[in-house]
Amino acid sequence: MESEDYEESKERVALVAIVVLASLAVASLLIAFSYYCYIRNKVSKRLKFQKGEEVESKNGVSSIQVATEKGLQVFTYKQLHSATGGFGKSNVIGHGAFGSVYRGVLHDGRKVAVKLMDRAGKQGVDEFKVEVELLSRLRSPHLLALIGYCSDNNHKLLVYEFMANGGLQEHLYPVAGSNAVYSKLDWETRLRIALDAAKGLEYLHEHVSPPVIHRDFKSSNILLDKNFHAKVSDFGLARLGSDKAGGHVSTRVLGTQGYVAPEYALTGHLTTKSDVYSYGVVLLELLTGRVPVDMKRGPGEAVLVSWALPKLTDREKVAQIMDPALEGQYSLKEVVQVAAIAAMCVQPEADYRPLMADVVQSLVPLVKIHRPTTKAGSCSSFHAAKSPTAQGLGRASP
Ligand SMILES: Nc1ncnc2c1ncn2[C@@H]1O[C@H](COP(=O)(O)OP(=O)(O)OP(=O)(O)O)[C@@H](O)[C@H]1O
Ligand SMILES: [Mg+2]
Repeated sequence: MESEDYEESKERVALVAIVVLASLAVASLLIAFSYYCYIRNKVSKRLKFQKGEEVESKNGVSSIQVATEKGLQVFTYKQLHSATGGFGKSNVIGHGAFGSVYRGVLHDGRKVAVKLMDRAGKQGVDEFKVEVELLSRLRSPHLLALIGYCSDNNHKLLVYEFMANGGLQEHLYPVAGSNAVYSKLDWETRLRIALDAAKGLEYLHEHVSPPVIHRDFKSSNILLDKNFHAKVSDFGLARLGSDKAGGHVSTRVLGTQGYVAPEYALTGHLTTKSDVYSYGVVLLELLTGRVPVDMKRGPGEAVLVSWALPKLTDREKVAQIMDPALEGQYSLKEVVQVAAIAAMCVQPEADYRPLMADVVQSLVPLVKIHRPTTKAGSCSSFHAAKSPTAQGLGRASP
């Protein structure tokens, strides 16, 4: 009897010991798992931030964390005043919606372009903020580099790398009020510019998460360096896109007439495909040498997309829309290929437009064809007084 009791109490002790040990094991597992989750979360946040990505989302709408100022120089107004010769008229290189752009030289001898905001109001300040925050964290050889900025109470200035050959549109057609030396770009250079610009958008759409939608992609926001390599500029209107496949963000419609995708103009729904449409319009400008909207042109010819689209996929008609300045420089085969890319980009239905990666893939072989037979282009120097003459055309982009 006694031995039975003894056995029973031994069993109970063993059971209690097992339960205690099992609970301890489960508790340690839970603690280890929570610690692992905490560390993983911390590391992934740090990695995302280093890559210049979004770290938080409010109400489902992406928001950008305030930028680190790493790599960006903060200038005083006085420094930029002296770099641009007191914002002298002779140093003005352009005007845009943000304000005037001046040529400047920093203390260390670097050539820069200084944008001086002359717009009052929230929109201008917001654009300034977006431009600084985004450009300080995005890095690509196909995006215009922001060197620094000045933001004191009364002055907002942006300091960029200097692009000796200015905006693309100024090489395609004369621009009212511009003192640029107007010249026509040759076919080979146009193809290379199309590829560089496509790579800039590809980076924004596909190499950054969540994707960045430029929202104001147009020929004046494609800038050309001394060798006519192109970089995409002006992120003032940029928005972070939706991470979800097929997702969109709703915004107020902003952009430039002639470049805005129909679904965005009608509904305000913005996706990376809105930029693809604008890219298609720029490709049409490169092919035809025409502005996106010109009310002075004859009936049916005022809007570039409506006029060109029916001819783009017709081998017989495609040659009719080509810029006459390009005559004799291209083969029909390559023009048909570029026209087909343009036609897909400006499809009214956003889902039928290609990804920018597809556009890059299609243009690479065309640009390669021209690589071995490098020849000087028909372009003359731009911003002529100070910039070096055009050289190195046909060299592969870096
Ligand atoms: N980094 C730069 N280097 C050389 N020239 C520049 C630079 N940035 C701008 N420019 C010149 O200044 C002009 C005006 O540029 P800006 O971006 O202010 O206006 P925009 O592109 O014409 O219009 P928007 O304000 O709608 O973007 C450009 O067309 C170009 O000639
Ligand atoms: Mg611009």
